[in-house]
Amino acid sequence: MNYHVKNINLASEGKLRTEWANQSMPVLNIIRNRFARQKPLRGVRIAACLHVTTETASLMDTLKAGGATVTLCASNPLSTQDEVAAYLAKDLKIPVFAIKGESNKIYYQHINSALDIKPQITMDDGADLVSTLHSKRKGLIARIIGGTEETTTGLIRLRQMAEKGVLRYPIIAVNDADTKHFFDNRYGTGQSTVDGIIRATNRLLAGSTFVVSGYGWCGRGAAMRAKGMGANVVVTEVSPLRALEAVMDGYRVMPIGEAARVGDIFCTLTGDISIIRKEHFLRMKDGAIVANSGHFNVELDLEGLKKIAKKRRKIREFVEEYTLKNGKRINVLGEGRLVNLAAAEGHPSSVMDMSFANQALAVEYLVKEGKKLDKKVYPVPPRIDKDIARAKLKAMGVRIDTLTQEQKNYLASWEMGT
Ligand code: ADE
Repeated sequence: MNYHVKNINLASEGKLRTEWANQSMPVLNIIRNRFARQKPLRGVRIAACLHVTTETASLMDTLKAGGATVTLCASNPLSTQDEVAAYLAKDLKIPVFAIKGESNKIYYQHINSALDIKPQITMDDGADLVSTLHSKRKGLIARIIGGTEETTTGLIRLRQMAEKGVLRYPIIAVNDADTKHFFDNRYGTGQSTVDGIIRATNRLLAGSTFVVSGYGWCGRGAAMRAKGMGANVVVTEVSPLRALEAVMDGYRVMPIGEAARVGDIFCTLTGDISIIRKEHFLRMKDGAIVANSGHFNVELDLEGLKKIAKKRRKIREFVEEYTLKNGKRINVLGEGRLVNLAAAEGHPSSVMDMSFANQALAVEYLVKEGKKLDKKVYPVPPRIDKDIARAKLKAMGVRIDTLTQEQKNYLASWEMGT
């Protein structure tokens, strides 16, 4: 079997860590058990491009239990857990192509290796697999039934492709399921971003000024958790609606040009490019800490930073200190790649449980219904979303009410007022 991992001897550590994660993934476990009995993915070839973590290992195991043949590559050069990659290759016999710290060139080589399976289904986190297929491996597209996409950023790219008429197979927008982004993007990113910043720096958040750029679901989560740790949170936004929401959630809102002067710690979560630029770095306090938790490493203009720096050194694991010509030091975390996966372990298993339950059930849906779909981006069927929410609540031991007949009648009527 072909694979490319850092060290296959790390497999036993990866196995234990995956077992630990799996204990917090009850919904995915239910799906895996059903898949093992029913084999709904029998004979289906799946190429997956995801962060190679313990939670991803549980998802791969689930797809395999359903009868699929799977290959996996990393969806970011710095997010792979090498021991998990080893476990997947050695114990689960899944061809994995992922090494933490791989170059951009190897990253794309790995994507191509995963595609060599000639997939019928693609599973993406950021849409690099789909974009490689549509640019360099077009010959493989005819066999594809459909794909799934995990992130906001990937969906922005895929919707652009659909709009421009270049998308050549249907995509299920896993990110947009309520049981995905309400929890993964908010509570998952919130906790893991703060976790990554703390693991990288060991700085006290209490009393610090923490600047969050972008107040989407991920930014909301990061702001909420930084506030919970005692930071004074400043939000920067471009959307008036989200800015207003941030104000009423109790944060100071200002342009990044002003926030640059007051922040101690900065974190971008926008999905867009060049959020913190040269002119902002120049205004920052000496010792400012700058991180990104958005999908791609484009949110911090590190090329601009290099131009105004006279010295650069690695001062701790995941911290690069740039000394500017004006004498101030700026500390960049995890090379500007998503800090929650570069310096910590990504989202906790309990939220990935729902995200990856959506992935598994979206694949099952594609296998059954994909041939009827157009070359468009589709939502996860609402029935799947509801089933996942119900199963998660049940696993958590939380019971809820059901509507009485009188309440159902009331909701179905228009005649009754006061
Ligand atoms: N994205 C964010 N956190 C993740 C995790 N723990 N596993 C896979 N993908 C992720």
